[in-house]
Amino acid sequence: MTDEELYRRAVEVSERAYAPYSNYLVGAVALARDGRVFEGVNVENAAYPLGVCAERSVLSRAVVEGARPGDIEAVGITASPCGGCRQWLFEFGVDRVTFRNPKGEIVTYAPRELLPEAWDEL
Ligand code: THU
Repeated sequence: MTDEELYRRAVEVSERAYAPYSNYLVGAVALARDGRVFEGVNVENAAYPLGVCAERSVLSRAVVEGARPGDIEAVGITASPCGGCRQWLFEFGVDRVTFRNPKGEIVTYAPRELLPEAWDEL
C-alpha cells in the first residue's frame, strides 16, 4: 500500500470517528512491516480532555494485536498530528507519516522531522 493509499484509507476510516463535541472526524491507518493494516479514529468524551486522538487510537490497536515499536512502517492520517501524537509516532519508530497539512497538501515526513531534538528516554 502506498503512502497515498494509506491516506485515502484513513479518510474512509474517519467516518467511524466518535467526535460529537468537536465534530472533527479524524482517521488514522497504520501499515505494519508484516503487511497488516490497523485502523484508528478519534474517540471523544463529555469530559473533553479524556478524548483520544486517531493516531494514539491506531497505535494502541496495533499494540493490542501484538505490534511493538519498530513494527510499523507507515501511518496515514487525515489531520496534521498534534504534538503528543508526534511523540507517540516517534516512539513507535514509524518510518513515514503521511497527512493532509493545513494548506491541503498531502505530505510525508519521518517522525524525527516532525519532532526535532525529540526527547527520548533511551
Ligand atoms: N485529533 C486527532 O484525532 N488527531 C490529530 O492529529 C488532531 C486532533 C482529534 C482530537 C479531537 O477529538 C478532535 O480531533 C479535535 O481536536
